[in-house]
Amino acid sequence: MNVLILGSGGREHAFAYSISKSSLLSQLFVAPGNAGTAQIATNVALGVTDFPAIKEFVLENNVQMVVVGPEAPLVEGIYDYFQEDAALKDVNVIGPSKQAAMLEGSKEFAKEFMERNEVPTAAYKSFTATSLKEGMGFIDSLKPPFVLKADGLAGGKGVLIISDAQEAKESLEEMLVGGKFGAASNKVVIEEFLDGIEMSVFVLTDGDSYKILPTAKDYKRIGEGDTGLNTGGMGAVSPVPFADDVLMQKIEQKVVIPTVEGFKKENLVYKGFVFIGLMIVDQEPLVIEYNVRMGDPETESVLPRISSDLLSHLNAFATTSLDQENLVID
Ligand code: AMP
Ligand code: GLY
Repeated sequence: MNVLILGSGGREHAFAYSISKSSLLSQLFVAPGNAGTAQIATNVALGVTDFPAIKEFVLENNVQMVVVGPEAPLVEGIYDYFQEDAALKDVNVIGPSKQAAMLEGSKEFAKEFMERNEVPTAAYKSFTATSLKEGMGFIDSLKPPFVLKADGLAGGKGVLIISDAQEAKESLEEMLVGGKFGAASNKVVIEEFLDGIEMSVFVLTDGDSYKILPTAKDYKRIGEGDTGLNTGGMGAVSPVPFADDVLMQKIEQKVVIPTVEGFKKENLVYKGFVFIGLMIVDQEPLVIEYNVRMGDPETESVLPRISSDLLSHLNAFATTSLDQENLVID
């Protein structure tokens, strides 16, 4: 099988490394790739959201599977683009539909999905420029610190945690009317602060069954000793040492099952990875975000722990079903 991976990060290098070991693989391409992927696959100079160019490449090179690394092509609807094109619809695109990708593309959409499907999460309200005053009133009704989230994609930088109420109100105004995060903050979700410890759970689903992949925890701050500004993630570890069987059972029952069942109930077409960001408060998991892809750098610590054939698991989406696959975790 010929496989194309979209993206250029450490995540895509980790995908390429795992997939390159599969006996099912013929040719492996990464677009645009990086210096690491060049050593184990063929890099192709294509933009990850240039769908017509991706189409041409896929058809010319008989690509049967596209593994989508970053969120942008998913939120822009690459899954639907392939489904709606007669020449492309049999290509196995690993990723959710455009509608389901809203779980990452809009914080409000994600919160409403969680509420409808009884997935535990922080209490919240969302506001726009016209409801700025109500937003300020809502800040007054909460205990500090205040958590302000730009609704749209902001490259992992759209969340502000502020202790002072006056400062939080000023930031809310900057986001809603001052264009602080551009269009991403035309709407702002304000939510209850959760005081706990973070971890991430990764789920692979073919829309029907699911497999829970190894847990991970990334470390975001730029400086030595976990200091300084947040980045998208400087490094990650797997397994998460405190994620014991009791906690994992709770996560599966209270978070993973209602999430996958929610996709089905709401007809959200989802064939890919779900990255669930959790805050563990008093041993209970609460969801702080969904990402509709794997994490970067988390993938670098998660995929090497899968000792079964990742490409076979992904191929099952198109051939049989995921529950026929035997996922082995080291
Ligand atoms: P997000 O982009 O939603 O993952 O938020 C970025 C970071 O903000 C998270 O990784 C958490 O560290 C923090 N965060 C988000 N929501 C909350 C919350 N309700 N309470 C406490 N911290 C939060
Ligand atoms: N490392 C965090 C992310 O991929 O969103």
